[in-house]
Amino acid sequence: MSDDKIAQIVAEARAEIAQCNSADQIESLRVKYLGRKSAVVAVLRGLKDLDGEQRKAVGQQANEAKEQIELLLADHLQSLGGAKSSQNAGLDYTLPGKRYPEGKLHPITRTLNEIIDIFYGMGFEVALGPEVETEYYNFGALNFPPDHPARDMQDTFYVGKDTLLRTHTSPVQIREFEKRKPPIRIVAPGRSYRQEAISARAYCVFHQLEGFYVDHDVTFADLKGVLVAFAQTYFGDDVKMRFRPSFFPFTEPSAEVDISCFLCGGKGCRICKHEGWLEILGCGMIDPNVFKSVNYDPEVYSGYAFGMGIERIAMLKYRIDDIRLFFNNDIRFLRQF
Ligand code: PHE
Repeated sequence: MSDDKIAQIVAEARAEIAQCNSADQIESLRVKYLGRKSAVVAVLRGLKDLDGEQRKAVGQQANEAKEQIELLLADHLQSLGGAKSSQNAGLDYTLPGKRYPEGKLHPITRTLNEIIDIFYGMGFEVALGPEVETEYYNFGALNFPPDHPARDMQDTFYVGKDTLLRTHTSPVQIREFEKRKPPIRIVAPGRSYRQEAISARAYCVFHQLEGFYVDHDVTFADLKGVLVAFAQTYFGDDVKMRFRPSFFPFTEPSAEVDISCFLCGGKGCRICKHEGWLEILGCGMIDPNVFKSVNYDPEVYSGYAFGMGIERIAMLKYRIDDIRLFFNNDIRFLRQF
């Protein structure tokens, strides 16, 4: 095919393309001029039969013609305003992209997940219990005497004569002890409810993580070891722990545990109220009376239990000064995590 012939094809294409007034027409011209049966493609296919110099010259011309026709087609399509074609001509790739709002985990969920992960790494399984409990699981089996003030309507939300919203996650201990035999090593996260005057430090619902381990020869040293490992992993290697004697009906001996304030390093600041220490949990060795209520022989088994307040830990970690922020679900607060 001669130079002239190629030039003529381009001229014809140009004229025909100019007449087009729809994307469909453009598409059929693309087939006619650039498709498998088109003259230009025939030329390109025939190149292999030409010799050296000629192949180079004709090949170049045919390729240029192809590019020109492609350009003419694309230009005309764009002038028709047609982004409808499969080629997406008319799309402006320089426009900024659309941002889709990203979902986030609630800071309490996130804190719980992080804490559970740490205990999981130390061999604890995860168990859940119901939020609506009976008096027996919430109090009786946990060695609360019948007249204990915590049982009072003042402190506990009753939903029936013997049913209530659990005031702590400790009833999960009883439910799991009834289900299996030691060794048992479990953490139980979940919501708890207390009828309290609502303030920056207290809310009617909150989250706890219960942990317990029962086996032969479990000691207070095991409890200390696990809690120190947890605190150093979660708050940092420099954190110190302090065990203060305390009382819970279901543990003996009992302790409340403080960590050295990781904001001021124990020197004293606003967060630790110039004490240098922050209380994060209650714990102790499981009381023999608890074992008796689930038919475990306290002469054979011993165990520890602890319970931590998740809001409190999240408040310390993220320096939040009002617990109610976790429950208002103000999007401006939640977006910060
Ligand atoms: N259940 C106790 C509370 O809510 C915490 C605790 C759990 C204490 C386990 C000792 C052992 O205050």
